[in-house]
This record gives sequence, structure tokens and C-alpha cells, in this order.
Amino acid sequence: MTLKIPKIIGHRGCAAYAPENTLEGLHTAADMGVEWVEFDVKLTKDHIPVLFHDDTLERTTNGHGLVAETTYEDIKQLEAGSWFGDSFAGIKIPTLEEAIDVLIDRNLGLNLEIKPCPGREKETAEVALDILSQYWDDHERLLISSFSHVSVEVARDMATDWYRDLVLPPEWPENWAELADYLDVSAIGVEGNNCTRDQINELLALKKPIMAYTINDPDRARLLQSWGVDSFFSDAPDVVKDGLLTVH
Ligand code: G3P
Ligand code: MG
Repeated sequence: MTLKIPKIIGHRGCAAYAPENTLEGLHTAADMGVEWVEFDVKLTKDHIPVLFHDDTLERTTNGHGLVAETTYEDIKQLEAGSWFGDSFAGIKIPTLEEAIDVLIDRNLGLNLEIKPCPGREKETAEVALDILSQYWDDHERLLISSFSHVSVEVARDMATDWYRDLVLPPEWPENWAELADYLDVSAIGVEGNNCTRDQINELLALKKPIMAYTINDPDRARLLQSWGVDSFFSDAPDVVKDGLLTVH
């Protein structure tokens, strides 16, 4: 088995063209010819994994409060498209299962980012991986990631032979290299807009694919690629593609 990460991954689906972390975003990515998407998964109060980025509902829905304190019954009543544009009014927050259905149907690869609400690092990974294990067979086109080393550790222990990566925040933890080694990652994620060439050189020493988030500027993508970055999370995959020297 070989991990086949493409150069460009649709970020939160295809977040420049459809509301983030929605089924419409996955379809939009597929329609554009994107090979893989990334989305964020967290748990409702009653432990249903849903696609959602923030800990709170306000920015992208008509709801209020914490996702971790809202049941799925209430989450599914919410509207998650109007904030992005009137033509997306009525869109719902999808469950992980609904999203997997679309991915399989549209032949999309997946970088599933485990995005736990604070304190739910372990259980979020456990529930998401359990569901994936029931539906997902193509492990050359699946990468499990998280900023949370606890969530990545669950992936290592629960799904040892699946590919996983640790995503570094803009301020790297001092022990990032030890963590990457301990978690036995197959790739490493890095904030790509402000990172330095020296930092990329440090990552190159790992000899693993380097994945930069979130790159929407084709010139920045080209520069990072010349430094040795392999893959780019982008809200606008079509725009970034034009900046790359090689796309396969
Ligand atoms: O994993 C790449 C990227 O998705 C990380 O940032 O905040 O968009 O989830 P964020
Ligand atoms: Mg993400």
C-alpha cells in the first residue's frame, strides 16, 4: 500500500466556492476535478460525528452556542449555507456518514481532520475512525490528521496501518519532531502562508510529504513548491493549480 496524496486538496470541501464542510462543497470539488478533499469532524453532544470547523455554531449557521453542547437532533435543524450566499440557503450540517457516501459516490480521496472540541480529543477520534472503518476501503486515498497529538495517537493505536499526519499550528510545539516520530506519521502539515524556508528545511529532514495549509495564492504555492512542499490545501484548487510547476 502506498499513500497517494495529490498536489492539491480541496480545503473544507471547496471553501471558496461552496459553504465549508458541506455536501455541496464535496460535490463542487468533484465537479472541478479535485482528487481529494479535506474536512473537519467533531462530535455533537450525543456523540454524532459531523462536519464542522468551529467549536461554536455562530459563524457558519443560524444556531448559537457550543457544538459539544448541542444534540444532533438540534444540529440537523440548523441552516449552514446562507452565511456564504443566498443560493446556498437551506444547506444542512452533514454527518460523517453522509459525507462518506458522497465521497465514495464521487470517487474522492479524503484527508479527514479530527477537530475535537476541547477535552474530546480521544472520543472524537474513536468515533470517527469507527465509522470510517465500516465504510472506507481505499486506504491509499485516506489520510487521518489532527492538530491534536492525542487524536493522532488514537489513530495510531486504533488503525495502525492507516496513514496519518500531525498538523502543526503556526507556533510549533518545541517537541514537534519527537511527536512526529512517536506518532509514526506518514506526512506533516504546516501553516503555509507565514512559514519560512528554514522551517520547511527542518520539515524536509523528516523525509515525509509536507502539506501546507491554507494556500489560495498561486505565487505562494509555487514558492512553497520550490522549497519542497508536496501538497497544498486550498479553498480555490483551480486558482492554486495554475501556480504550481508540476501538478502530479
Ligand atoms: O489540515 C489542514 C487545515 O484544514 C488546517 O486548518 O483550521 O482549516 O482546519 P483548519
Ligand atoms: Mg481542517
